[in-house]
Amino acid sequence: MRESRPLFYRPEDETWQVFRYAEAEQVLNNSALFSSVRNRERGQERPLQNSILNMDPPQHRQFRSLVTQAFTPRAVAQLANRITSIVTHLLDEVTGSGTMDIIDHLAYPLPVIVIAELLGIPREDRALFKTWSDAVVNGVDGRGQNRPQPAMSDYFLQVIEERHKEPQDDLMSALLNAQVDGHHLSRQELLGFCILLLVAGNETTTNLIGNALLCLDEQPDSMEQLYAAPDLIPGAVEEVLRYRSPVQLTGRIALADTVLGNQHIQAGQRVVANIGSANRDEAQFPDPDRFDIRRSPNHHLAFGHGIHFCLGAPLARLETKIALTLLLERFQDIRRVPQVPLEPGESILMHGVKHLPV
Ligand code: HEM
Repeated sequence: MRESRPLFYRPEDETWQVFRYAEAEQVLNNSALFSSVRNRERGQERPLQNSILNMDPPQHRQFRSLVTQAFTPRAVAQLANRITSIVTHLLDEVTGSGTMDIIDHLAYPLPVIVIAELLGIPREDRALFKTWSDAVVNGVDGRGQNRPQPAMSDYFLQVIEERHKEPQDDLMSALLNAQVDGHHLSRQELLGFCILLLVAGNETTTNLIGNALLCLDEQPDSMEQLYAAPDLIPGAVEEVLRYRSPVQLTGRIALADTVLGNQHIQAGQRVVANIGSANRDEAQFPDPDRFDIRRSPNHHLAFGHGIHFCLGAPLARLETKIALTLLLERFQDIRRVPQVPLEPGESILMHGVKHLPV
């Protein structure tokens, strides 16, 4: 498609699919022309309606600034010890059994525990998170219906009230305290933040860790290099982000008529940046279908680009780096169980597998 139809229009849903790196980057970079206030009109993904993901400037900047402090590389680096102890505990649970499911035993629980701790969610409630997070990402309620998640909203509203009465040293209490233009956030705005962090941080990071193991299993040479030189792990994580991008696409709405890649786009039409395709664009990455843990430069779009660039990127990178480092330290010769077929996740937005026994 990048060569034959780099911009592809489907009249049925008035949507342009953008496949090349150059145009995908332009779409993500130009929030004045390509709006993120996109889901309200379509009535989808309701729990995320009030989140910064769906805001344009100037509102976006005001709200994003409330949480940036919690996610700067410096703030996140302080979580390293805690993340190390969570990963150590998760690996202790499977050590000695000879086998583990990378997803169930490590890649799924790790980001849930980290984000739940950041938000201040009680430990006993964390099991609820998976169902909610999956349901929001997949836009379904488990019975195939596209609908909001009242149980999740009610739950967060209840925790918000508890923190309101009794603030703790957690992100939820900090958000309750924060002000935009002299006003505290409304309950719906707070809810938007909680749900965004829950959804944006979980399945994405799970997929990144799972995809990393998948790539390394396919490329035993790369795995060997990481065993020998763990300092190559951060570069390898970047290459996994490019080669098997956990988030495959993200959409915008054109606010005015414009020309993109020689195509005339009309105001009101939807424009989808295909991140996964852009990250394999031969015009940007030499030999793009080669998984190369030493690739440099590696300016992939896996965390987006421009004002909506992923807030959780430092956290996702750190969690994945620690998970891989401790896995390789603890287990020699990690190999996928080939008899178990790989099953892709439910969502077309995401790239990852449901299980990865090794
Ligand atoms: C935004 C990917 C992990 C929080 C984004 C965007 C992408 C992305 C592509 C931009 C969407 C757009 O422009 O429409 C990923 C990937 C992750 C990951 C691949 C893991 C490998 C996380 C984590 C968190 C997080 C761990 C937080 C705990 C956010 C937030 C936004 C965002 C809050 C919205 C930023 C804004 O609108 O200004 N992410 N993400 N993400 N991500 Fe992530």
